[in-house]
Amino acid sequence: MQRRTFVKVIGLSAFAISSTGFKLIEENGLIKTDCATSTDMLGPFFRKNAPRRHDLTYAGNDKEIPLKVIGQVFGADCKTPLKNVEIDVWHCDHKQHYDMESDEYRCRGKIMTNENGEYWFKTFVPPPYAGRPKHIHYLIHEFDGYQELATQLYFKGDKKIKPNNWIKYRWDEKRILEIYKNAEDLSEVKLDLYLTPI
Ligand SMILES: [Fe+2]
Repeated sequence: MQRRTFVKVIGLSAFAISSTGFKLIEENGLIKTDCATSTDMLGPFFRKNAPRRHDLTYAGNDKEIPLKVIGQVFGADCKTPLKNVEIDVWHCDHKQHYDMESDEYRCRGKIMTNENGEYWFKTFVPPPYAGRPKHIHYLIHEFDGYQELATQLYFKGDKKIKPNNWIKYRWDEKRILEIYKNAEDLSEVKLDLYLTPI
């Protein structure tokens, strides 16, 4: 009986290691991957209709650490970049406040990936609030053939990140990012996103 079950499972799924090192898993004719970016809470502070922009800074945030965030968005095979993906990003301001009302849409923006699936924005390292680690929210709401992705970016070395708290799974660790200096001597982090096919 056990053997029979085993044979059945093998018949339905297979996997291969892609050139990026991720596993491609085929199950019931659907491709799943283990590169897919893990999800995180959307949280109560998402706002629709944020303006398209690459700069989330404003007069008054000058005491915070300036930060550039870059990355690429990839598809089901873990290596094909996806262009024209719309990404919402948002975080709290330097006073730990989320702008839910003003026309300024402070610390919020929509960004599109370019021909190479790349995105970038300028901001600052947000302060922690309400016991949570410092974080930046992401939402890819709709992109053809892929599931919605709500996730968050964290910072390496943040003492508020605790095991079995905000970070639960192996992939979650890939969203805890080291801040490095880029070629222009600016603090930068890189978060690549891997979407899950429908
Ligand atoms: Fe938040």
